[in-house]
Amino acid sequence: MSIRMTRRRAAVVAVGAVVVGTVAVLPALPASAATACSVTYKIVNQWSNGFQGGVTLKNTGDAWTSWTLTFSFANGQTVSQGWSGKWAQSSANVTVTNETWNGSVANGGVVDMGFTANLPSATNAAPTSFSVNGVVCGGTSTPTSAPVTSRAVTSAPVTSRAVTSAPVTSRAVTSAPVTSRAVTSAPVTSAPVTSGPVVTSAAPSTPSTARVDNPYAGANGYINPDYAAQVNAAAAAKGGTLGAAMAKVAQQPTAVWLDRIAAINGANGAKGLAAHLDAALAQQTSSGKQVVATIVIYDLPNRDCSALASNGELLIANNGLARYKTEYIDPIVAIMSQSKYASLRISTILEPDSLPNLITNLSFAKCAEANSTGAYVDGVAYAAGKLHAIPNVYTYVDVAHSGWLGWDSNLTPFVNLMATLASRTTGGYSAYDGFVSNTANTTPTIEPYMTATQSIGGNPVRSANFYQWNQYIDEQSFVQALRTALIAKGFPSTIGMMIDTSRNGWGGSARPAGASTSTDLNTFVNATKIDRRIHRGNWCNQNGAGIGFRPQANPAAGLDAYVWIKPPGESDGASAFIPNDEGKGADPMCDPTYTGNSLNGNNLTNALPNAPLAGKWFPAQFEQLVTNAYPAL
Ligand code: BGC
Repeated sequence: MSIRMTRRRAAVVAVGAVVVGTVAVLPALPASAATACSVTYKIVNQWSNGFQGGVTLKNTGDAWTSWTLTFSFANGQTVSQGWSGKWAQSSANVTVTNETWNGSVANGGVVDMGFTANLPSATNAAPTSFSVNGVVCGGTSTPTSAPVTSRAVTSAPVTSRAVTSAPVTSRAVTSAPVTSRAVTSAPVTSAPVTSGPVVTSAAPSTPSTARVDNPYAGANGYINPDYAAQVNAAAAAKGGTLGAAMAKVAQQPTAVWLDRIAAINGANGAKGLAAHLDAALAQQTSSGKQVVATIVIYDLPNRDCSALASNGELLIANNGLARYKTEYIDPIVAIMSQSKYASLRISTILEPDSLPNLITNLSFAKCAEANSTGAYVDGVAYAAGKLHAIPNVYTYVDVAHSGWLGWDSNLTPFVNLMATLASRTTGGYSAYDGFVSNTANTTPTIEPYMTATQSIGGNPVRSANFYQWNQYIDEQSFVQALRTALIAKGFPSTIGMMIDTSRNGWGGSARPAGASTSTDLNTFVNATKIDRRIHRGNWCNQNGAGIGFRPQANPAAGLDAYVWIKPPGESDGASAFIPNDEGKGADPMCDPTYTGNSLNGNNLTNALPNAPLAGKWFPAQFEQLVTNAYPAL
């Protein structure tokens, strides 16, 4: 697949769409101000001597213009890094004060914060009380049992930075994209409490055929045995510390790509769809816990219409749409709807890059044909209608990434296209469970040390050359805003967003440790961004990338999950033609010596050299992704 970024007009784009922190439609204030709050605390991920936590702070009283959150740890936990607030710790006492951009919180507004911490003891009890501006939240402290993470992660992330130089995220959570999806809705084994801190747990539930809002909540992800075997072989061959880190990747769930008709029954020794679902069922039976399997639907006619690396087997001109329906979607539906799979949750990722190509890339003949014939919209609508009709199957439409659709001039037409898509789908808007960004891309989930609207030398960060006035510098802010726009357009408020975090960690020695002190905008952005790409239009086998956040449910407001859709170590494409029977071509964007085109600002591609065909194992890339993982494996 190709990930294309199209630069839109660089100049005057109204900033109004993105409001960070200072908002608001304030409710009428009562005569005397009352501070009240509720807190959801969760352990997102835990390893032998550390963990990642999340704190969602909700203002249930009068508006705040600034806030200070305090709580204490009981087991020697020490925060090593925090975001969306200035984190400090003295002995057991943690203090988080607002950033300049998220100090104002209206009644009902929420602030999502996160941190990593060292954990010296075997116990990791949740704080029992949280206060804001000196007032105990909810007046009670009723945390339930400390959460248990469902996946073993055995080593700690590298988090040596001082807590006081805490990063800033660009999430505009305080300016309420707040919708009806409860931040605390979840895997929850403990009953949510609305006053006092709520501790959510990632513990998976027992299998059930019930349709749920978020299929990832309370479920273990399916571990693909084919992929795990490949990873374990690479780990054994490498050995040592790096080999041990590699082996941990085999314990993580990854998506299964049905990238051609033959993949449905299994091609070249790989499992077919039924074999994968059988294996998922076996994992569910042996663990006694709910499993969710993620399957990528990826065979539209004229696939990858603006590039060559992942061109597919079907062409619109050769009856491709009819073949897509009858030879590809229908057999998939026939397998997924078998009663023996009814207790599995099956999450489908619909056609990466296809519909975004209709927004920006109609100058490519194959995209123009996909648009004028309606084949892309009809194909995705057909797939979603059929798949969503199966009670345990969930549909997520691919929305490219912030560096592609993040300008209003692209985002608004895309939201309109989604409405058209829904209007052509059996079931309409409600046939869609959510949307997924960053599939196989490397755009960061969060740029931790700056925001899009922050001013440097009198200019907003988003006006830097690297961002070209894009409204979003990271995926989380992008999908949260997109979700709000989709709901406003008619999609149900239950939709959840997902981000492919398999390769957007950008760790390793080149990762900045904090914000630059430069007052020159471009110098500041280039030294501050964790995204090490030369240009956001670069997408093929990016040199310097690393594995990102581990798959997890409910990582932030409006998000169903972080998922690993692109299995780390599988190539994005080759730069020289390699004969194949999959329709794939050689793409110059995968050639490190190619000097680019208008889609990457005529820059070098930053691709790793000598890559194999898209989807094939690429040892050098896997090694780099593991080495540069953030959090570390
Ligand atoms: C390729 C597919 C492959 C997928 C996952 C895509 O870029 O075109 O063949 O299955 O990546 O690696």
